[in-house]
Amino acid sequence: MIQAGVAEAFNGQINKEFYSYYLYLAMATHLQGRGLKGLSALMRQKAAEEQTHAMKLFDFVEARGGAVVLAAIDAPPATWDSVLAAAEAAYDHECFISRSIDDLVAVCRAANDNAGETFLQWFVTEQVEEEETAQELVDQLRLIGDNGAALYMLDRDLGAGVATAAATPAAT
Ligand code: FEO
Repeated sequence: MIQAGVAEAFNGQINKEFYSYYLYLAMATHLQGRGLKGLSALMRQKAAEEQTHAMKLFDFVEARGGAVVLAAIDAPPATWDSVLAAAEAAYDHECFISRSIDDLVAVCRAANDNAGETFLQWFVTEQVEEEETAQELVDQLRLIGDNGAALYMLDRDLGAGVATAAATPAAT
């Protein structure tokens, strides 16, 4: 049985993961409107991942006999000044989520909740990858600068990568 305070902290993280879902969806439609279908597809893919993160936490709270309480999801921004600004916002958000996961681990430790702490190690590892891929996109866009042809090629390559990933059965 999960302790009420620990369940409450998990519910907070569920809300943040659903906000992440909203944020990436907002970026997806913003980029689609700028004609960047590959980047938009990448953001849709990331949004879908965030939904699975939220549901992993959701299922864990339920499995431990806790109450899942769904709070309102804040509205994300609708626009960004540039593609780079959106990518930087995504990177900053992932760093925020990493700190939030660390805080949640600390809650579990303080409550001597070993199941919760062990469960969260998947998220700790996942955040390393999340920060890395967000940083890579920022780096690529900084290199591209205002070179429209290079942005076109990046967008095309990212779109192809998302399509390949969608066509490849998951390893797990
Ligand atoms: Fe669920 Fe991108 O952190």
